[in-house]
Amino acid sequence: MPDMQSSSIVSPDDLNITNLGPREIPTPACKMDFPAEGSCWHADGDRIALNDHMDSIREAMKIDIDPPSIELAGPRREIFFNPADTCIAIVTCGGLCPGINDVIRAIVMQAYYTYGVRQILGIQYGYEGLDPSFGHKPIELTPDMVMNIASFGGSFLGSSRGKRDVKVMANRLEALGVDILYVIGGDGSQRGALAIHEEMQRRNSRTAVIGVPKTIDNDIMFMDRSFGYQTAFAAAFHAVISAHTEAKGARNGLGLVKLMGRDSGFIACSAALATGEANAVLIPEVPFALEGETGLLAMLEQRIASRGHAVLITAEGAGQNLIPESGQTTDASGNKLHADIGLFLKDRIIAHFKQRKIELNVKYIDPSYLIRSVPASPEDRIFCLNLGRHAVHAGMAGKTGMVVARWHQSYVHLPMSLVTRGRRKVDPTGDLWRSVVESTGQPARIGV
Ligand code: F6P
Repeated sequence: MPDMQSSSIVSPDDLNITNLGPREIPTPACKMDFPAEGSCWHADGDRIALNDHMDSIREAMKIDIDPPSIELAGPRREIFFNPADTCIAIVTCGGLCPGINDVIRAIVMQAYYTYGVRQILGIQYGYEGLDPSFGHKPIELTPDMVMNIASFGGSFLGSSRGKRDVKVMANRLEALGVDILYVIGGDGSQRGALAIHEEMQRRNSRTAVIGVPKTIDNDIMFMDRSFGYQTAFAAAFHAVISAHTEAKGARNGLGLVKLMGRDSGFIACSAALATGEANAVLIPEVPFALEGETGLLAMLEQRIASRGHAVLITAEGAGQNLIPESGQTTDASGNKLHADIGLFLKDRIIAHFKQRKIELNVKYIDPSYLIRSVPASPEDRIFCLNLGRHAVHAGMAGKTGMVVARWHQSYVHLPMSLVTRGRRKVDPTGDLWRSVVESTGQPARIGV
């Protein structure tokens, strides 16, 4: 069971997927002559256990109920929307992430070629594009337009942060005649998508809203991982390798790397594990102390004395309690804006070694947006392709208020209301953090 995505708080009702209505149209997705009995076809009753730990399955069996389970993604034999009359729209919201263009491309290709949908709109600059007061016109998307977009990072449609009035957005979708809206975005954007879905339900509208969760921070709940995360930590890997090279190339060298990860330290942990070069990793989930015999400063002093160099990785959200001027401001998405832990640590470490009269050469690396503006890795590209394919299967089947995700290696449908309940965090008692502690040799808690 991955970290703190506690399934014990989830009831079977929390996992129900809303369907717009009966499916009466035979799917054109079978035109590919795929064997009728093939295991890719799924009915809504095909499900996997939310928690695959035997204890939880036995618990349910003891009282003769099914353990909480999730609907499998995949083509349905009958669909809800008639492709010839269907208009779909795609919007990308929030910060950039490797793979956004892959998902756009996959949705367009799947809708166009597998289902024969011809009306495909690209909404520009996130939810701003659904508010006419911004004046962003939708773009009509075709396979030719999106064919090569996956070679680039970023979003072909543009993105933006921030909430917009849900009634205004719903009116806009109705005016454009959109039947299925695809929202590629993080947890805040999926909350926006949930609000649009609820507004459409209140209006008794036949509009489906399907999410594709996106974040390099890997902080969305109930999924194996989010797309873009693997590419981002692969880019961060190079920053850590460089920090190690620089640290070793100087007398008493310290390579200090600050990595993105606002409230979750997955990128910092994975970059440390992949390189095997970090001597300590600081993440938002695990508090640490600078001072004292077992604090970070003393730890670095010992490491430099014994090995002549050190590598320290900090996630941007780590140690915020230590920074006096740490503010309470938020960005347009409502995320807390953090003070700069990288520069703070750099100054404090330099001051400490100076005061102790020990030579130290700090090489500070902050790759910042470099890790998320790159094109997706081949592994993420396949992942994005599959998320896009399954998003189209789900939308055409008339599913709504849900996201596509991978869970226990299967593609699944999850209610938006479930995945937006909170943020996924590194579990300080779980195996990921333990692997970091074992790999770096740092204590599970530094100085606290
Ligand atoms: O996507 C999440 C994230 O990568 C955070 O780690 C980071 O704080 C944030 O985006 C910064 O994005 P922006 O500067 O675009 O708001």
